[in-house]
Amino acid sequence: MTPQDQALYDRVMASFTARFGHAPDLVVRAPGRVNLIGEHTDYNDGFVLPCAIGPATMVAISKRHDNHVEVMAADFGDARDQFGLQSPLERNPEQPWADYVRGMMCALQNAGYALSGAKIAIAGNLPKGAGLSSSAALEVALGKAMLACADIDIDNTRLAQIAQLAECDFVGTKCGIMDPLISAQGKAGHALLIDCRSLGLTDAPVPDDVAIMIVHSGVTRGLVDGHYNARRRQCEAAATAMSVAALRDATLDMLEAAGLDPVTKMRARHVLTENQRTLDAADALAKSDLAAFGMLMAQSHLSMRDDFEITVPPIDALVAMLQKAIGAQGGARMTGGGFGGACVAVMPRAKVADVQAAITAQYRTPDGDIPIIMVEHPGPGVAIL
Ligand code: GLA
Repeated sequence: MTPQDQALYDRVMASFTARFGHAPDLVVRAPGRVNLIGEHTDYNDGFVLPCAIGPATMVAISKRHDNHVEVMAADFGDARDQFGLQSPLERNPEQPWADYVRGMMCALQNAGYALSGAKIAIAGNLPKGAGLSSSAALEVALGKAMLACADIDIDNTRLAQIAQLAECDFVGTKCGIMDPLISAQGKAGHALLIDCRSLGLTDAPVPDDVAIMIVHSGVTRGLVDGHYNARRRQCEAAATAMSVAALRDATLDMLEAAGLDPVTKMRARHVLTENQRTLDAADALAKSDLAAFGMLMAQSHLSMRDDFEITVPPIDALVAMLQKAIGAQGGARMTGGGFGGACVAVMPRAKVADVQAAITAQYRTPDGDIPIIMVEHPGPGVAIL
């Protein structure tokens, strides 16, 4: 276990034991993720290139021999939620964190899995609001834990699909498959090129001398606040207008000929060009061509800024600082759903100290703080510890 995982493990064990008076049956860990390139392409049946990271969510669980679930969140002052698995589960406006728990239980049961009650403690070390998928990590860890308690073993891709349903149907964000799928299927030392239509996974090794840096802008974001779902609707409208099942099936020529309104056209253009950039970036990574990879990241950021319009000025400034500090051997872009959150940068490991120093000196969050900077190498997906 890494020291970071050990500290989290100790914390979730301590919370569980303090609350329930005994040790849990098992602890499950599911990681957060960072997407290297391929943004807002997943729900358009396109391509993404994410990797699992070190920060994660852990779920400590013990089976109960009834249908009652009692759950506590160590990161929210040991806040508690409890409910019966049989009763219709509804959202709990008082405790938004619990919606991910209730939503996952609901989705598992709707998928036909017979769950038993449980005692659960949850703890995580993913920065909140950074867009590093703390919610997907929670859903995936919880799903794996609940199924393990019921002696049910399912494929990790299936687990990710159920987590996506929890988020779409219960929480209300019409998100794609990327976040739960990489949390469930992540592979140490690798990014994964995911074909979001077939759910095929292609390993994309990240060489040891390449560092992935994540900088949290400090601009917090909310997926459910409408922007995300609005972008998704625009993409679907563009696909419908071009008579294709999803934007994955459209070409730039078709887009030119479609006579779409200017905004819808820009949204679709982002998705079409981003799909190609993602495939090209996977090729560049396979060749260890960081210069090409960095150029594709820069183009991706401009496309998110100008065509998809999901960046914000502090993020644009942060990306520019990163790009300047990194130079030609690598690159940077905003990562995740947009309107805040984190930027991701790829660079030779030898450059990390200089880039970190430059960002620490130049960037301040909206609260005037030095930003959280994480230096990562891809880690594994969900596991029972
Ligand atoms: C969020 C969603 C993902 C994906 C990204 C944008 O993280 O959960 O499904 O759409 O935004 O690439």
